[in-house]
Amino acid sequence: MRVISVVGARPQFVKLAPMARAFDAASVEHNVIHTGQHYDANMSDAFFDGFGLAAPDWNLAVGSGSHGAQTAEILARIEPVLIAERPDWVLVYGDTNSTIAAALAAVKLGIPLAHLEAGLRSFNRSMPEEHNRVLTDHCADLLLAPTDTAAHHLEREGLSERTRVVGDVMVDVLLDVDRNVRDTSLPASFPTEDFVLATIHRPFNTDDPDRLRSLLDQLARFDCPVVLPAHPRLTAAADRADLVLERGAIKVIEPLAYHQLVHVLGRSRAVVTDSGGLQKEAYVLGRTTTTVRTETEWTETLDQGWNVLVENLGDLETLALRPPPTTDRGQPYGDGAAAHRSVAEMRSWAFR
Ligand code: UD1
Repeated sequence: MRVISVVGARPQFVKLAPMARAFDAASVEHNVIHTGQHYDANMSDAFFDGFGLAAPDWNLAVGSGSHGAQTAEILARIEPVLIAERPDWVLVYGDTNSTIAAALAAVKLGIPLAHLEAGLRSFNRSMPEEHNRVLTDHCADLLLAPTDTAAHHLEREGLSERTRVVGDVMVDVLLDVDRNVRDTSLPASFPTEDFVLATIHRPFNTDDPDRLRSLLDQLARFDCPVVLPAHPRLTAAADRADLVLERGAIKVIEPLAYHQLVHVLGRSRAVVTDSGGLQKEAYVLGRTTTTVRTETEWTETLDQGWNVLVENLGDLETLALRPPPTTDRGQPYGDGAAAHRSVAEMRSWAFR
């Protein structure tokens, strides 16, 4: 079996790491196309280096652009590679413009398509990621779902025959990295007292200057330091709106490599975020999270109050620093072996 993975944006490099390892362990031939959607060293190379991943076999270098232009450019540049290579599977990850573009390219060429992290739904049709997920799921031949909830969404859309619940590969990598960084110390520049880890990058929060201003005002008022690794979209949006990120409690840092992020998360008191991945990572490591969004794809994090959604910012500090629940979180995202299960499903599917 020969598989080509297509990745392009930061969270996909994280998901690629356990998959590449699992393909290796199963002696599956595996190549990687990087679309170039993310290109800054700390948004891309740092992840390949940090996970010891081989450099991508192809880099399509599409760069940034409007949704339509970026998606179309990836589609056009990926097609000749897939025609020349004709793998047994194209594997796409998550919900970015790279995901949908590669899915369209594969399905139109009749190359079997597997979608990792299938079945997530926010039911918010204004999110670009929601369009990407729904359309990719309907293109795919094999839907590798992280949870029963995701499988249920796929069933409601008539896709259950193609669905397999494998667990969440982000848990595979998180548990592994957390074990390795737990006993190391944070860089000297980090706060030694309690701190909150905050990340903001969704258009919903960055692209409306009034919303961004009130979010930053609230974070600046916290009693403890708020460490804010700034995604390029946030930095650009703050510049456009003439807003200073670093003020009051807010301590701005460069985007973190994955191992650093896990390290900082493990030392933090609580999390404020609009990232999907971080909500789940915080849940698995037992950090209370306040998600500054109207909905989440990872609804299991909400069940016992480990994660709370907040649309109207109100008193963000009191909410963010609430005491953690005392209930057992269980393992709704799997046991850390999702990548191996995914490879096994691809194998048995391909040679059925
Ligand atoms: C994309 C994904 C989002 C994911 C996020 C992780 C889509 C629709 N969205 O959003 O689901 O959570 O990645 O980060 O695919 N930029 C740089 N350097 C880079 C990359 C981006 O400066 O290396 C800047 C550019 O100004 C660009 C902007 O960030 O226009 C947004 O980047 P883009 O890839 O379009 O989307 P993200 O917001 O990162």
